[in-house]
Amino acid sequence: MEKIDWKNLGFNYIKTPYRYLAEYKDGEWSKGTLTEDNVLHIHEGSTALHYGQQCFEGLKAYRCEDDSINLFRPYENAKRLNRSAERLRMPLVPEEMFVEAVKEVVKANEGFVPPHDSGATLYIRPLLIGVGPNIGVSPAPEYVFTVFCMPVGPYFKGGLTATNFIVSEFDRAAPMGTGAVKVGGNYAASLQPGKEAQERNYSDCVYLDPATHTKIEEVGSANFFGITADNQFVTPVSPSILPSITKYSLLYLAEKRLGMTAVEGDVYLDQLDQFTEAGACGTAAVISPIGGLETGNGFHVFYSETEVGPVTTRLYNELVGIQFGDVEAPEGWIEKI
Ligand code: PLP
Ligand code: COI
Repeated sequence: MEKIDWKNLGFNYIKTPYRYLAEYKDGEWSKGTLTEDNVLHIHEGSTALHYGQQCFEGLKAYRCEDDSINLFRPYENAKRLNRSAERLRMPLVPEEMFVEAVKEVVKANEGFVPPHDSGATLYIRPLLIGVGPNIGVSPAPEYVFTVFCMPVGPYFKGGLTATNFIVSEFDRAAPMGTGAVKVGGNYAASLQPGKEAQERNYSDCVYLDPATHTKIEEVGSANFFGITADNQFVTPVSPSILPSITKYSLLYLAEKRLGMTAVEGDVYLDQLDQFTEAGACGTAAVISPIGGLETGNGFHVFYSETEVGPVTTRLYNELVGIQFGDVEAPEGWIEKI
């Protein structure tokens, strides 16, 4: 195994030795197996290629101080994959099969789970795709479920470092479209605005609600939260936002551990002054503080363009402490490998 510089990893593809693969044919799943082959050989008529019939998940494995390995709320990912599958008329992956597949892949690639104090994690990518001969717009005859993984560092530059974001003029999802499920089409729609944002030195876009373009929905790869001076943790609510497992965990921790008021509600773009701090949250993003936001109507700085706010820091320490096994987890949040 090549020596990995754990402390300087970015969020890039790295081939690890083993991945899990199961096939769905004639109404049932095959017994999944581990394979070393990281190339999928699929039919040219596969709906995943033509009509975007595919969905995916993202979760992480964390190395604890005692060398054991934690998964963070993997059953929530299993449930969300099935909500995505249902929306695109794909077969469900039984939750136990999903979690077992994840555990098998982490165990098989255990040497790639970064050390406890490196700040890095093993990112796990479950993927469900429609395959097999098809040409009309209809669900595929067959499916592949695969899970692969790789060690990663921060998704946005610097991790717990304030960076700037920009409000996009594009939408990532339609009001009653597929924004609430984790399907590739949402990300395809975000590629052009995301790249344009990066070319202008912003970390990513913030999308507005597609119906009125007056409210913040989410970041292209994470949910949005704001902290108010009167101790509220506020996140937008909308049928076109991906329900972030990290966001729901933070809503819980803000209330139960930090004594804050947790609010899911509208976040109007012209009321950003209410927030003393703001951030993006997700599996890849963890908690990424938003320094400034270019709204199209001016540049709004939340806490600071360079410093991280005290509440964001406390939330980060609580969440990451739980994930790495340093802080006691709420019942059922940690699954040991
Ligand atoms: N929103 C989008 C668009 C995402 O891609 C992600 C990443 O999964 C999130 C939010 C955060 O969700 P989670 O916290 O479940 O990773
Ligand atoms: C995640 O946080 O798991 C994501 O899926 C975000 C991004 C890498 C697409």
